[in-house]
Amino acid sequence: MLLHGTDALKQAAAAGHALPGFVVYNLETVQGITAAAEAAGTPVLIQAGSSPFKHAGRETLMRLALDAAEDSGTARLGVHLDHSRDLAEITACLESGYTSVMVDGSHLPFAENMALTKEAVRRSRDHGAWVEAELGALPGDEDVSTDAVATDAAMTDPVQAAEFVAATGVDALAVAVGNVHGFTRDPVRLDLDRLAAIHELVPVPLVLHGASGLPVEELHGALARGVAKVNVNAELRRAYLDAVHAALPSALPGSDVVAVWTAGRNAVRDAALEVIGRLSPHAEGGSA
Ligand code: 13P
Repeated sequence: MLLHGTDALKQAAAAGHALPGFVVYNLETVQGITAAAEAAGTPVLIQAGSSPFKHAGRETLMRLALDAAEDSGTARLGVHLDHSRDLAEITACLESGYTSVMVDGSHLPFAENMALTKEAVRRSRDHGAWVEAELGALPGDEDVSTDAVATDAAMTDPVQAAEFVAATGVDALAVAVGNVHGFTRDPVRLDLDRLAAIHELVPVPLVLHGASGLPVEELHGALARGVAKVNVNAELRRAYLDAVHAALPSALPGSDVVAVWTAGRNAVRDAALEVIGRLSPHAEGGSA
């Protein structure tokens, strides 16, 4: 069923858990995430677009994600627009029934980011959707691991974050605290003191992008400091590609595409379930 509103996000925040936001690109990744949500029995966000629209087409991926969420029976699935800079795109997703959107003005000067975010919030309220925005800049590519490195200069300033949230009315704030998109050669260390200072001043749940490969103690440190939504993409991409790679030798002689797609789909499901387990602060290795 479609998961409307911010209750699940707020409950996760109160419990020290986080909602996973999983990026999808195609039918098999949507099916894998839906199956994981069904198996886990916990709320999950399908992040369909913005970058994956370039591959799948906006209408196609929107419908795929919304239909999967609506038809998913017991699974509770929000459909979320990730990293959109484009108000027309945000509006199209809101009109088709997305339950939340991320407006990403993090590349803009502070005042312009605020103005863009305010407008996205205004449009979203008409459709009953909630809004995530970003302050501070996250290095790396959303679709390809580039071994990105975070810099202090691009990190979220706690005082600015408080001003930004108060002025825009956003429901959740994505922060840059040392996190990067994609896998890195060296383990990522978060600036947990900065995160704690943001949490102290900002009254809405915080969002951690770039959680692929993040050491579990860093992740749980973030959950203990106000992070209630965690985005994961690269881990799912790697699981999908590894499974497809392994399935190819036996599939090639008969051109068995279904065997390859099924392997990819099941690998995404299993990887998502593993992440969902890690998002509990009581998972192995946690030291919140
Ligand atoms: P990773 O690819 O590092 O998991 O980041 C995903 C993300 O933040 C999507 O917005």
